[in-house]
Amino acid sequence: MSNSTSPSNPQRTLPADYSAQVQHSALKKWVSEMVALAQPNEVYWCDGSEEEYNLMCRRLVAAGTFIPLHAEKRPNSYACFSDPSDVARVEDRTYICSKRKEDAGPTNNWMDPTAMKETLRPLLQGCMKGRTLFVIPFCMGPMGSDISQIGVEISDSEYVVTNMRIMTRMGRAALDQLGNNKPFVKAFHTVGAPLADGQADVSWPCNPAVKYIVHYPEERSIVSYGSGYGGNALLGKKCFALRIAGVMARDEDWLAEHMLILGAKSPTGDKTYVAAAFPSACGKTNFAMLIPPAAMKGWEITTVGDDIAWIKVGKDGRLYAINPEAGYFGVAPGTNYKTNPNAMATIRANSIFTNVGVTPNGDVWWEGMDHDCPPGTINWKGQVHDPSAGQPVAHPNARFTAPAAQCPSLDPAWEDPQGVPISAFIFGGRRSTTVPLVYQSANWNFGVYAASTIGSEMTAAAFGEVGKVRRDPFAMLPFCGYHMADYFNHWLQFGRKLRNPPRIFITNWFRKDPSGQFLWPGYGDNMRVLEWIIGRVRGLTGAVESPVGWMPTYDDINWDGLDFSREQFEAIMHVDRETWKNEVVNHDELFSKMYDKLPKEYIFMRELILSSLWRSPEKWGLAPEQD
Ligand code: GTP
Ligand code: SPV
Ligand code: MN
Repeated sequence: MSNSTSPSNPQRTLPADYSAQVQHSALKKWVSEMVALAQPNEVYWCDGSEEEYNLMCRRLVAAGTFIPLHAEKRPNSYACFSDPSDVARVEDRTYICSKRKEDAGPTNNWMDPTAMKETLRPLLQGCMKGRTLFVIPFCMGPMGSDISQIGVEISDSEYVVTNMRIMTRMGRAALDQLGNNKPFVKAFHTVGAPLADGQADVSWPCNPAVKYIVHYPEERSIVSYGSGYGGNALLGKKCFALRIAGVMARDEDWLAEHMLILGAKSPTGDKTYVAAAFPSACGKTNFAMLIPPAAMKGWEITTVGDDIAWIKVGKDGRLYAINPEAGYFGVAPGTNYKTNPNAMATIRANSIFTNVGVTPNGDVWWEGMDHDCPPGTINWKGQVHDPSAGQPVAHPNARFTAPAAQCPSLDPAWEDPQGVPISAFIFGGRRSTTVPLVYQSANWNFGVYAASTIGSEMTAAAFGEVGKVRRDPFAMLPFCGYHMADYFNHWLQFGRKLRNPPRIFITNWFRKDPSGQFLWPGYGDNMRVLEWIIGRVRGLTGAVESPVGWMPTYDDINWDGLDFSREQFEAIMHVDRETWKNEVVNHDELFSKMYDKLPKEYIFMRELILSSLWRSPEKWGLAPEQD
C-alpha cells in the first residue's frame, strides 16, 4: 500500500507516504480489507499538513468542485455547489444497527446488523473504482485529553479530506495517539459513484438514488454510502461524536451532547461556563458567539464550541466539557455583521462555502447578508440568479466550514485537555407560542423532563409540516445512537451522582405575536437572559415560582439599553392553564411511543405539572408580586 504519484499530472502528486511506518495492526488490517472491497485506483494516507490541504484544494479546483474565491476578499477560500439531491443530512436513510431492535428504540431506523452488512456489501464492492481511497486519522477533542477519542475515516472524497482537516485534529498526529493497539472508531465513507475506465467525473460525485448512513454501535463503527454532504460524510461529527460517542457515554458514564459551550465573564470578573442544546438551525452558533449589547458593559462571552459537547465528571465532582471539534460547520443564510459578527470574522479566510451564492467579484453571498445581492451572482444551482424567479441564492442549509482558531471570541481554555467546568445547562426550542422566554427547572429531574419535551416548529418544509411542533428531546432526536428512553434514564441516573449538579434552564427566543412578529429581539439581547441564568446559578438574582419552574420577574432582568415594556415581557413570559394543559397532553405523543422504557418518574412529573396548573391564578405572567 503506498501513496501513489502520477508524474503526468503534477497536481496529483501526493506528499511522501508514511503508511509503511504504521504499526497498528488492526488499523492496517481494516484498511487493507476496505481497499480489497472498494477497489480504489490508489490509496493515500493523510498526514494533515498544509501542503496536503493545498494539494487537495487544487485537485478539487481541477475537478470543478471548488471555485477559488477572491484572493484578497476571501483568501485561501473556496465555494462549491453540491448535487441538488445532496443538500442535508438524510434522517430517513440513517440507521442504528444495534444487535437488538429495542436498543435502537422507536425514534431510530433499525436493521439487523448482519442484514445491513448483506445489503451494503454489493454497494461497497468496487465502490471506489477510478477514485483515490483516503485514510483520514482524526482526533475528536484536544490532542492528549482524557476525554478525547480517535477515529479513522476512509473516504473517496477530497471534499471530505479538506473539511475533516478543518473540523477535526486530522492527520499523522492523531494516528500517533493510537500507538500500536489502542481502539479507534472505524468510519467508512464513499460517495457511491465509481468511475468506469475513462469515465469523466462530475463536480459533486454522489449517489442521487441510494444513500445509507449506518451505525453499528456495539462495534463502534460507521458506514456512510452515497452522500458527500456535511453530517452524512464528515463522520467525526454527528455519526461519531453524537451517535457512537453517545453509546460510549451511556456505557462509561459520561455525556455526548448536541450542545454549544460558552464562557461568560461578568463585569466583576467571574467566569461561568454554560452548555446549551438547541435543535439544528435553532441558534447554537449564534449563542456561542454572542456579543453582549453595548449597554451591558463588562460582560464578555467566549466560545468553546458551537455544536457538540463531551462532558465528564471531574475529580472534584463537577462536570467538565470539551468541544470535540476543531472548526465550525455553520448555517450560512442569516449570518451577517449584525446577527453574528464573530462568525463573519471567523469565515474571512481559509474557509469552505457549500451551496452559497458566488458573486461576480469572487466573493460569497447568501440571504440575510448585510448588503444586497450583487447582479450576476451565481446561485447554489450554478445559474445566474434571477431576482424575479423567486428562488433563493443560497440553499437554506448552505454551510461554511471554518477553523475555530479564527474565531475572535474563542475561549482561552477551548483546548484545555481537562475541559471547562459547566455550571448550567440550557435547552432551547423554537416555539412560536406556549413556551416562555426563560424558566429554571425546579431541580435536575424536572429539568431532564423539560429537556425531553423541547421542540421546534419548522419554518421551511424541510422536515415536515410547516408550523407543526417537532419534538426534539435534548435536541438529540436525529443524533441519539440508542433508545431515546434509555437516554432519558441515563440523564436521570447521571444526575444522581452529582453532588452539586448544574442548574437546568429552558429558553425560547422564538415566541411570536398573533401577527407573526418575534416578540423577543434575540441575538445579542439573549445576553439579558443569560445574565439572569448566571445570576440564578450564583444565587444573585431573584425568581418567582410558576407551574413549570422558576421565572424571572420584569425587575429581575437587566433592561439597560433596550426599550422593552412590562406588557411586552408579560407577552413573552406568560404561562396559562389552558395552553399548558394541551402542551402537557402533547408531551405524551412522544412519550407514548417509548412507553416500555420511559422513566417512571416522567409519569409523576407530568402529573405534578398538571397539578400545579390548577393552582390559582390561571395565568402566570410575571410582573412583581402584587397584592
Ligand atoms: P446546527 O449547525 O444545524 O446544529 O444549528 P445551530 O443551532 O448552530 O443554528 P444556527 O446558530 O446556525 O441558527 C440559525 C438560525 O437561527 C438562523 O435562522 C438564525 O437567524 C436563527 N437565530 C439564531 N439566534 C436567534 C435569535 O436569538 N432569535 C431569532 N429570532 N433567530 C435566531
Ligand atoms: C445539524 O444538522 O445539527 C448540523 C449540521 O450541525 S450537520 O453536520 O450536517 O449535521
Ligand atoms: Mn448541529
